[in-house]
This record gives sequence, structure tokens and C-alpha cells, in this order.
Amino acid sequence: MKSTRQLKVDVYFTPAHLDEMQLKDKNIVVVDVLRASTTIATALCNGAKEIIPVSTVESVVKISGSLFGDVTLRAGERNAKMIEGFNLGNSPLEYTEEVVRGKSIIFMTTNGSAAMVKGRHAKNLVVAGFVNLSAVVEFLAELHNDFIIVCAGKESNFCLEDSVCAGKIISKLDTVIDDNLILNDAAVATVTLEKTIGKGVLKMLRNSEHGKLLSEMGFEGDLKVCAEIDSLSVLPVMTGNVLRLHKGSKQPSQTDAK
Ligand code: MLT
Repeated sequence: MKSTRQLKVDVYFTPAHLDEMQLKDKNIVVVDVLRASTTIATALCNGAKEIIPVSTVESVVKISGSLFGDVTLRAGERNAKMIEGFNLGNSPLEYTEEVVRGKSIIFMTTNGSAAMVKGRHAKNLVVAGFVNLSAVVEFLAELHNDFIIVCAGKESNFCLEDSVCAGKIISKLDTVIDDNLILNDAAVATVTLEKTIGKGVLKMLRNSEHGKLLSEMGFEGDLKVCAEIDSLSVLPVMTGNVLRLHKGSKQPSQTDAK
């Protein structure tokens, strides 16, 4: 039976109408299933030292100029394609151990990294996708406090995959804690979505706008990676402006990963 304690969960379908001050000192979960969340989780799991999310190409150039070239990678996309002069795009399949181990990755994507930058003054900020769903839920259960899920969305609009993932996080959390979850309307909608199209994640990704675009561009393999629930037991957390692995995260050892 549920206790009488209440825990408030707000979902925003896009960060477009949020500003840094609204997220300041809050507990934030940023979701960008296709593909920033999945790529960040993969990079940290494969031994990247840290990810520095930024929102403009100018910031990438400025920050990478102040760091040592051989330990820094410039990564990210515009219109889902790697940016000229960058080392990596935004496909999780590129972020292998050989490429990322020990590296600082300056990371800029259209929606995901911009949402993370908006949350940089949060009390806690974690990055979530289907790939690390249980690690996120475990963290929220331990946190035992109100939180906000910010879906990265698609260019200031609603997107299906982030909303379904938000709904899955809330539904799973509800099964592991005693508190009553008090949901805003957007959160109720994500749970309802999750109960229907959330049952077949890969199919849902293939039917989503961004999923269709990625498939057309030859990134069908990325959809499979992004759809794999709990394939990575890692939790990217933001400290200052930098994402690193939460201490409880399980990183495969160098030999396991080979
Ligand atoms: C984003 O942050 O906008 C996405 O990750 C875009 C992409 O799929 O590359």
C-alpha cells in the first residue's frame, strides 16, 4: 500500500519555454533518446573522462582551444550530421572505447545538449534514455524528492520518443517507491503514452519523426541501440558544466569491453 507522502513530478515536453532560473536548484532529468542521451551514456560507459555539453559551435571552438588537443574531442551534429572540423558526430556507434577512453568530449547537439546547458544550475541533473532507464529510476528512488523531467523534444516541439521514455521512468519509479506521485498534466500524458505505444520501443522509434529521418539518413542501426532498455548501467550526472559518471555506475573493464 502507498504511504501518504507525496512526491511532485513535472514533465516539460520541450525546454523551449524554460529558462535557467526556473531549473535552478531543482532536480532535473534530461531526456533525449534520439540520440544525445544515448550517445552520452555510451561514451561514458566506454571510458570517456567527461562530456562538456554546450549549445553553440562557437562554445565548442572556444572550449577546445583552451584544452589539450590530444585529449579533447569535438563532437555533435547539426541536422543529424557531423559538423565540419569536428572529430565525431552524434551516433552512439562512433563512441567506441578505442575512440573515447580518457577523452574530454565537447558535445553540441541541436536539442539535447541545449537542454542540458539550460539545467546547469540545477541541484542535480542526470541524463536519461531507454538505455539507462533503471539507473535513472534507482537514482530518483534514492533521491526521494520532487523532480522535473525535461524532454529535449525536436526544435522546440513535442517529440514522441522522449515523452514515452519520460512515461516509462515515472511508471517504473511508481512501482519501486511508496510515495504518491503527484503528476502535472504533461506527466499524466507521458504515462498514458507509455502504456500504449511504449510497449514496443523500437517500433515506436521507427514511427517517430526523428526516427524516420535518421533511418532515411542511414542511421537505422542507431535506432536499435537507442531502443535497448537497460543495456547500460550508467548514470551521467552534471557537476558544474561537466557530465561524468555517477559513482554507482558500472563501467565495463577494459578487458570486458573488448
Ligand atoms: C539532438 O540533440 O538534437 C539529437 O540528438 C539530434 C540527433 O539525432 O543527432
